[in-house]
Amino acid sequence: MALSPPPDQDIVVVGATGDLSARKLLPALYNLSHEGLLPGHGRIVGAAPVDLEQAGFTEFARHAVESFSRNRPTRSAMAVFLRRLQFVRLDPAAKLTDLRTALTRERRLLYLAVPPSAFAPLITDLGAAGLAEGTSLIIEKPFGHDLSSARKLNDTIHSVLPEQCVFRIDHYLGKETVQNLLVFRFGNSIFERVWDRDAISRVEITVAESLGVEQRGEFYEQTGAIRDIVQNHLFQVLAITAMEPPVSFDAEALRNEKIKVLQALQPLDPGHVVRGQYTAGTVDGKRVRGYRHEPGVAPRSETETFAAMRMSIDSWRWSGVPFFLRTGKRMAMRDTRIVITFRDVPLHLFAGTDVDDVDCNRMIIRIQPDEGISVSFVAKVPGAEVRVQPVSMNFAYGASFKTSPPEAYERLRHDALDGDHTLFIREDEVERGWAVVQPVLDHPGAVVQYRAGSWGPDEADALLAPLPWHDPGEGGSP
Ligand SMILES: NC(=O)c1ccc[n+]([C@@H]2O[C@H](COP(=O)([O-])OP(=O)(O)OC[C@H]3O[C@@H](n4cnc5c(N)ncnc54)[C@H](OP(=O)(O)O)[C@@H]3O)[C@@H](O)[C@H]2O)c1
Repeated sequence: MALSPPPDQDIVVVGATGDLSARKLLPALYNLSHEGLLPGHGRIVGAAPVDLEQAGFTEFARHAVESFSRNRPTRSAMAVFLRRLQFVRLDPAAKLTDLRTALTRERRLLYLAVPPSAFAPLITDLGAAGLAEGTSLIIEKPFGHDLSSARKLNDTIHSVLPEQCVFRIDHYLGKETVQNLLVFRFGNSIFERVWDRDAISRVEITVAESLGVEQRGEFYEQTGAIRDIVQNHLFQVLAITAMEPPVSFDAEALRNEKIKVLQALQPLDPGHVVRGQYTAGTVDGKRVRGYRHEPGVAPRSETETFAAMRMSIDSWRWSGVPFFLRTGKRMAMRDTRIVITFRDVPLHLFAGTDVDDVDCNRMIIRIQPDEGISVSFVAKVPGAEVRVQPVSMNFAYGASFKTSPPEAYERLRHDALDGDHTLFIREDEVERGWAVVQPVLDHPGAVVQYRAGSWGPDEADALLAPLPWHDPGEGGSP
């Protein structure tokens, strides 16, 4: 279904001079403007405490779009976009009342792109400034830092705004490949029949980054991989992989099925979790330093930059199927994928041939980069002898659709303007995510080391033993 412009409203970005605003939000707004997908009427208000004039903010926005937009900006589209911008300097003493004069519509979408410590005070100020009426709120991650802080933040939000006005972002849900998982599973009849404990022996989900903590060492010290990636992105991908078919693609129907998976997901057993931290190594041919030598990181830091875990979903469909999740920074390459391993054949008709050495059937869903899906199976090598070899069928987004998908932030921003919650996280999902990881936050255990540029610590391999993790390029698969 083609997207259409959302209803008239103002768009407010609080924290408009920050990194997220520059790299993602302003470029996304430019592209929506260019494609005619912003409201027909309404301002784009950028707000921040910094002492900046309108001209300075316009220049900041121009530079952000020129540097980070996925489409090269045109002069005319840029001019149209910049004309809509208005900067408001937030005086902390005014407690958001200074926003009022910039608003032109009854309705507004307010994006909180501010440090997490400012979420709750700003939401309280929003209510006190009389701006709750007509406001929909987009709130960034991290949503709390544990179960009790997430509950407290939900309580603060609900003291000002009802849940139907709240859009909690997990930008993974804005990715085309994650949305395609739904189409792939529920738009095709062939896969759903083999999507359960009878056919599948295990599921692996990997979110690997080759980057380190860059300039965000101080932030990362308070966060770590479990809070930063597992509790949100990995659990969302897992929920979509494992959910039952929803009764419709209505937001609540979909979110009802996701929460059922998260409710059946068993709280993490610290004995089945490996936390790692990268040491110096080589990534993409370059020497890189270890985590404890990054700026802003304590020399004896125990914060994990890697986490791997064995999980189970106690449901009719998934009982007995282990789900292995892992994420890490400074890994061998950037790669997010779901690997579904199917059960071995019941009878080895090819016993005595090479087939015994060949892996089981696998489906690999590549979320990023090289987006696509492949299925591996064995085939007979041509010739008189019975020799078999793994081969794969591959679907690649780039080759099939010859277009680059929109940025996740564009899609999410448009949906929020349209009041569509489908790709946003509901309060019960976020709280259940925290409840599942809470045992490890309470009893984290020791952090083990892994070399930058590897696939993580050896201890993570022991979780799957005797089988290995399925890394990119293995078993003849992409
Ligand atoms: N950057 C990313 O890639 C990324 C990714 C995912 C999630 N996030 C989340 O997005 C949020 C913003 O991140 P960021 O990297 O953009 O941070 P940032 O670069 O530090 O920018 C923060 C912005 O918030 C403003 N601000 C700070 N305190 C404020 C307050 N009390 N009231 C109003 N405005 C305030 C700052 O204004 P001044 O310049 O005047 O201080 C600045 O505009 C954070 O919650 C972060 O966790 C960021």
